[in-house]
Amino acid sequence: MKLVVKRMLWLVIIVLSLGIIACSSKADPVNVPTSDDALVGTISVDVYKSPTCGCCENWVSHVEAAGFEAALHHPTDLNKLKDDKGVLPRYQSCHTAVTQDGYVFEGHIPANVIKRFLANPPADSLGLAVPGMPVGSPGMEMGNRHDKYDVLLLSKDGSSTVFEHIAGKN
Ligand code: CU
Ligand code: CU
Repeated sequence: MKLVVKRMLWLVIIVLSLGIIACSSKADPVNVPTSDDALVGTISVDVYKSPTCGCCENWVSHVEAAGFEAALHHPTDLNKLKDDKGVLPRYQSCHTAVTQDGYVFEGHIPANVIKRFLANPPADSLGLAVPGMPVGSPGMEMGNRHDKYDVLLLSKDGSSTVFEHIAGKN
């Protein structure tokens, strides 16, 4: 019995020290959110937008720079597509991105927030949305102006909660 306890103690000590080594090898604690990158891999999205939407193109460039693969689509009835994907009018923006798994990302959502969502999608979630087009969000850059806005977590039942608050500048 004593031997078993001793062995277990050693195991605990080994596991703990491994944990400490793993933690101390992380470069900068400030950069921890980017560690989601490794969990997500390449993200492929279908982006539905109007052919003349410039801010949509800018957002696509933003997510591509973050490693996403984007296929662009220009449906004749964008509103119907948003309805079909379950994006209620109060959550709508200019473009709708959809992953292979069917998660929906509406509007000018920062790529790193999408990665954080995909690393661990909450149960019964539809996806994320930034309703409207807040100035300073990715693809909506206008000089130094950065309005504050919320990235909403959309639930399949139509409700939403704040997934991430983006603080404004200026
Ligand atoms: Cu837009
Ligand atoms: Cu857009």
